[in-house]
Amino acid sequence: MSEETVVVAAALCDGEHLLAARRTAPPELAGRWELPGGKVEPGEAPERAVVRELREELGVEVEPLERVPGVWPLKPGYVLQVWIARLCQNQPAPRPLEDHDELRWLTVSDIWSVDWLDQDRPAVEEVVKRLLRT
Ligand code: CDP
Repeated sequence: MSEETVVVAAALCDGEHLLAARRTAPPELAGRWELPGGKVEPGEAPERAVVRELREELGVEVEPLERVPGVWPLKPGYVLQVWIARLCQNQPAPRPLEDHDELRWLTVSDIWSVDWLDQDRPAVEEVVKRLLRT
């Protein structure tokens, strides 16, 4: 049995755009950009955690579509999994108390214009491939 805590994140796609969120905390990650998400709660399905985290952090309803292949290590005991998701309702807005102070919809051509968290980069690369196929 794995003792690892899974952190899920959404590669939220809207047309040709991918959403990036800038973190305000913790201090070592502040100012870096991520795919928004958070920790899966005990007994919670990861897809449900994606939906819950995006609702809590950005005020949107999303539908997870497919998992991005891969598992990426975070701090010890934590791993990151990413789901491609579709925006269903509301426009995302940052909530500084929920650890984001800016959001950006990026196209493929400007996707590397923000300073992504290192661990999110491989997932972003996979999403770029997918955006280029569609
Ligand atoms: O919202 P919650 O407190 O559940 O989780 P979080 O603080 O947003 O994320 C938990 C950990 O996962 C933090 O250390 C984040 O830096 C990391 N994380 C990440 O590396 N990449 C993401 N796309 C989302 C979270």
